[in-house]
Amino acid sequence: MKSHMAREDINRIMVEHGEISILIEQLRLAIKGGTREAVERERTAFFSFLEEHFNYEKGLMEFINYPHVSVHISEHTKLIEICQSVIDGSCSNAALASSICKQITGYLNTHTDSFDFPLMHYIRQKFFI
Ligand SMILES: [Fe+2]
Ligand SMILES: [Fe+2]
Repeated sequence: MKSHMAREDINRIMVEHGEISILIEQLRLAIKGGTREAVERERTAFFSFLEEHFNYEKGLMEFINYPHVSVHISEHTKLIEICQSVIDGSCSNAALASSICKQITGYLNTHTDSFDFPLMHYIRQKFFI
């Protein structure tokens, strides 16, 4: 992989993290609004994008033979499960909208700090960027 491609991969990961934050905010507004259809729509949008993002990271890690690929992938699986249980456990309670979304943001930020940043650091070093 050429260094400009590696840079594009890092940029894409960061852009997608921003998009995930936007989807969480839209989910928060839907839960707060209390309409079941809107919650379902935003919930689906959030999880589809999250899975797409995780698949992208997985493909990238496999492509570059990242040494920590399996632990990173299993963290993605755990994250989806935990986000599902937080959302589905209380998404019918509009008063909990902010706290639900803060919890999800917290889990995702912890993942980014502990797994995505080390991956990006590895890419920068390996491809001299
Ligand atoms: Fe990740
Ligand atoms: Fe990520």
